[in-house]
Amino acid sequence: MKKILITGGAGYIGSHTAVELVNAGFEPIVLDDLSNSDSKVLNRLEEIVGKKIPFYQGDCNDLAVLDQIGKDHQLSGVIHFAAFKAVGESTQFPLDYYRNNIGSLVVLLEFMQKRGIKDLVFSSSCTVYGQPDQLPVTEDTPRKDAESPYGNTKKVCEDILVDFVKSKPDIRVISLRYFNPIGAHPSGKIGELPIGTPNNLVPFVTQTAAGIREKLTVFGNDYDTSDGSCVRDFIHVMDLADAHVKALSFLSKQNTDYYEVFNVGTGNGNTVLEVIETFQKVNGIKLNYQIGPRRPGDVVKIWADTQKINQVLGWYPKFSLEDSLRDSWNWQKNL
Ligand code: NAD
Ligand code: WQD
Repeated sequence: MKKILITGGAGYIGSHTAVELVNAGFEPIVLDDLSNSDSKVLNRLEEIVGKKIPFYQGDCNDLAVLDQIGKDHQLSGVIHFAAFKAVGESTQFPLDYYRNNIGSLVVLLEFMQKRGIKDLVFSSSCTVYGQPDQLPVTEDTPRKDAESPYGNTKKVCEDILVDFVKSKPDIRVISLRYFNPIGAHPSGKIGELPIGTPNNLVPFVTQTAAGIREKLTVFGNDYDTSDGSCVRDFIHVMDLADAHVKALSFLSKQNTDYYEVFNVGTGNGNTVLEVIETFQKVNGIKLNYQIGPRRPGDVVKIWADTQKINQVLGWYPKFSLEDSLRDSWNWQKNL
């Protein structure tokens, strides 16, 4: 059974990916410093998969921790989720973001090279496209200047990976550019755990439905879109998790010193108001919301061209927007 280190594996996307790895016959090993997650997630994960998942609480910037994991386990690959991800916070504390997000990747690459671990899947983001000039965005769509230090860390990490692979380190790498992950494991045992007031749309929707927030504000309904609200490509987190499994399986068949980026989205755009309507319909809930001013820095519309990941990795999404919003609500109710 191939052992895969998941950095940030107690977090939202990492925990769902751990489930899909077990389902596909891999053995995940989780490293997380719990800076944005809870150790209870590990128990929940183990309930879902019905077996123990080795867990190391530690910082991915710490080579000694990685070395210990490398001694304890013969790793064949790594999925690197560990990062800070709050866009607004990154403008207040840019150095924390550069140190954690870029530093951890550099340390991880040194560790992989030292130990001869070949395969890496890196969490990138559609944020690297900014507001693209053409839609849908393909992987060849030019990246724009980042709007935030967070966004810049993803661009810089992608550049580091390109430079590193060019140096022929005997490593194979895929960067996955996620669009907007939403939803939760259908069991309702794991999901997104935002700390404090959520910035993202769907956690704000579910917390409003649960009465934790009084009202959802739609940030603008005067954009040039079908109903005036912004458009995003919302992807179920289990589909996103599956993309990591497909990426790892594909990498293991490539020659080394391979690097490619793939968009991971559904290929469909939905407006914010469509999300609200769909949430209300599938869950039979009336949501308290109002239209407010535009949020500074928001991209107006973006969705993915998914032909590359469809054709090369054989990955297709299985869950609908309805499924995602039902699973998000189911998770919120269980919290
Ligand atoms: P998350 O915060 O839920 O998970 C990240 C995990 O990494 C957390 O459990 C946190 O405790 C841990 N972590 C952070 N720094 C660490 C370090 N130095 N060492 C060990 N653990 C550390 O976030 P997520 O939504 O699961 O995102 C995972 C990855 O995907 C991140 O790299 C993020 O930037 C990227 N991404 C997320 C989204 C999104 O909308 N959620 C979109 C695009 C890209
Ligand atoms: C979606 C839409 C809001 C909250 C962020 C990061 C990006 C990437 C994905 C990591 C927007 C609207 C939201 C609310 C609203 N993450 N909205 N009311 O902006 O696409 O991107 O997550 O890489 O880097 O910036 O996601 O969920 O914040 O917003 O109307 O209370 O919902 O204006 O149009 P976004 P989001």
